[in-house]
Amino acid sequence: MKLIIISNRLPVKAARYKKTFRFTRSEGGLTTGLNSLNLDIERHWIGWPGVEAETPQEQVQIETLLKKRNLHPVFLSNRDIEDYYQGYSNSKIWPLCHYFFTLIQHENSHWESYKRVNELFARAAEAIIEPGDIVWVHDYQLMLLPKMIRENHPDTSIGYFHHIPFPSYEMFRVLPERADLLQGLLGADLIAFHTYEYMRHFISAAERVLDLNFELDEVRLRERVVRVDALPMGINYDLYYNSSLDPKVARIADKLKSDYKDHKIILSVDRLDYSKGILHRLKGFSQFLENNPQYRNRVSLFMIIVPSRDNVDSYAGLKTKIDETIGSINGIYSNMSWTPVHYFYHGFSFEELCAMYHVADVALVTPLRDGMNLVAKEYIAAKRDNPGVLILSEMAGASIELIDSIIINPNDSTQIEEAILKALEMPEDEKRERMMWMQRRVSKQTVNKWAGDFIRELQSVGEKNLTLFSRVLSNEIERGIISQYNHSQNRLILLDYDGTLSEFKPRPEDAFPTKEIIKTLELLADDSRNTVVISSGRDHITLDNWLGSLNIGLAAEHGAFFKEGEEWHKNSIPAIWNEEILNILQQYVEKTPRSSLEVKETALVWHYRKVDAWLASMRVQQLIGALVTPCTREHLQIMRGNKIVEVKHPNFTKGSEANRLLKKKSYDFILAMGDDITDEDMFFSLPESAITVKIGTFSEYARYNLLNQTETIPFLNRLAGSGKRPQEEDSLKDG
Ligand code: UDP
Ligand code: G6P
Repeated sequence: MKLIIISNRLPVKAARYKKTFRFTRSEGGLTTGLNSLNLDIERHWIGWPGVEAETPQEQVQIETLLKKRNLHPVFLSNRDIEDYYQGYSNSKIWPLCHYFFTLIQHENSHWESYKRVNELFARAAEAIIEPGDIVWVHDYQLMLLPKMIRENHPDTSIGYFHHIPFPSYEMFRVLPERADLLQGLLGADLIAFHTYEYMRHFISAAERVLDLNFELDEVRLRERVVRVDALPMGINYDLYYNSSLDPKVARIADKLKSDYKDHKIILSVDRLDYSKGILHRLKGFSQFLENNPQYRNRVSLFMIIVPSRDNVDSYAGLKTKIDETIGSINGIYSNMSWTPVHYFYHGFSFEELCAMYHVADVALVTPLRDGMNLVAKEYIAAKRDNPGVLILSEMAGASIELIDSIIINPNDSTQIEEAILKALEMPEDEKRERMMWMQRRVSKQTVNKWAGDFIRELQSVGEKNLTLFSRVLSNEIERGIISQYNHSQNRLILLDYDGTLSEFKPRPEDAFPTKEIIKTLELLADDSRNTVVISSGRDHITLDNWLGSLNIGLAAEHGAFFKEGEEWHKNSIPAIWNEEILNILQQYVEKTPRSSLEVKETALVWHYRKVDAWLASMRVQQLIGALVTPCTREHLQIMRGNKIVEVKHPNFTKGSEANRLLKKKSYDFILAMGDDITDEDMFFSLPESAITVKIGTFSEYARYNLLNQTETIPFLNRLAGSGKRPQEEDSLKDG
């Protein structure tokens, strides 16, 4: 078993050097964080090596060099880089997920390229996937990949982690390709985010765009379950905590300390990115200098900006503005012995970075939006026992965990200014106390724990799906059922109607029986050994209109009515409708657009199939809350079914109907099929030998699952066809 990590970038990037290639570490939280992962499992990594191979020989050269480290390059052409990377990924999904609406570019060619490159990654993955492997896809550049891999590897454990914010539905719906992206992600077994807010947004987008229904953190698809979770990524804590003990780091740190003895150092470290709020930060710092002249000459801002995506227009423009703003601040405030902003536009080595973290008095981390922000956590760890203060934007995912930092809203430069003053004047004890709490937290939620938690959860979803599959009605199980059917003389076939024989329609009255349904029921009923009963929650008039001419039994309103021969019988049920209950239900119809009320003789049903998912879930809870008291008083049952809430008498259920049938006759073959929670009563009431089949996934009491409603009629036809007596088969042929 191996772990296959797939991300747009490999943890190293190649650059031509003489006749070969040299590799340096890639920047960005995803690769730095994941690369410091230390798991007890063989790890492979698929990604772009950061350089275009000019010839096939160069490709082989890079592949060979990387293969030693279990790194597998995916080569992208310049065109791919422009359209997939700079285009769809970084000019569409990135600004959208960070709420920079006006920076979004819509280009059809970008989308085409995004699909093509995701396919390239899928092919690269397929070349190394073996049974039992775990595939872990990372980030927004590869949102289509889980589904693409799933298509050819249905049984592989596939996880996806989204490292950037997931925006609210109102933002996400802007994407014309929203459905494809969500379906792409749902190819994974587990989809995780840094925070529960991103998770909540994802669920709401998936429910609205794909018309799915999540039950808490899970959604049941046709053939499997997908789980969603919030797992905040951590860092390799010990690596940063112990870094100041490394002689190289200590030397750089000592030099910094002696060079800036009486100066306070404020540190900021980011990739060049508009989401990082760099201009807002400079404004806050400049305001601080303006309003606190006592700190001039005594405080410097070390601003590290790592070049990133500078071929994307919005990034190039930002770089110019940053240069200008820093030039202007230094121009106004600096003097012969002091420069307010020390500006570095390049990456630093791990040792240099750690030395700066260790020495800096304040870390100023003020993104406008950031999925997590690992710099904040690295600063906390690298401080070790050297006090320092973290100023952190509430818009960074990390702010949910690092509550002992000074939290600010980065859009308000006055808050930044005040936070800097507060940090510089914070008493030593308070600094240590806050740092201690944050170190505790960061040292527990490490990158290893994060990855371990993710993989464990991924495996648990996999196990759940396996149990589900073991109950799916396979060809082999079906052969066994057919054999039992053929060897029996008295058969009971109990079928639910909606969602079992007939597919759900937006308007319940449109779900009348098709020709195929009628034909199948006739075929079953033609066999004198069969007692066929439709057991439904529908009212008896509708059932009679639709199916009354057939030679089958009917049970309506969950067994409150039943038809035998030509006669309908009504079980004696006390009158249940009082004005109060009816009024409550009517009020909910009025205040919930697209919902409706069905009034049956013995039950009232509120239907909400067409209602917005969020509104429906609120109304269901409110409605049930409002119904509890009057229904308890009247001894009525409130029941939740498939997009319905029903009020009915508790004495009659599909279970009571099954019991009634069992008392009348003994059967040597019982088949019951149903899709709804109400059918569970029927499954429960039948003897263990009964063949109980749930349409859809999961059932507490059914023995088997048929995953899709469209499979019911073909299954029943095969059953009925197999049981024909020879003379009946002949007459079938003649007819
Ligand atoms: N980083 C780096 N070299 C540098 C500056 C930063 O490797 O010169 C790393 C830093 O240690 C951190 C990552 O870049 O791990 C930035 O991650 P973060 O989550 O803060 O932001 P992202 O770049 O992912 O948006
Ligand atoms: C963020 C993204 C990563 C990306 C990194 C660096 O952390 O979430 O997916 O790799 O930035 O960006 P780059 O475009 O240089 O790979």
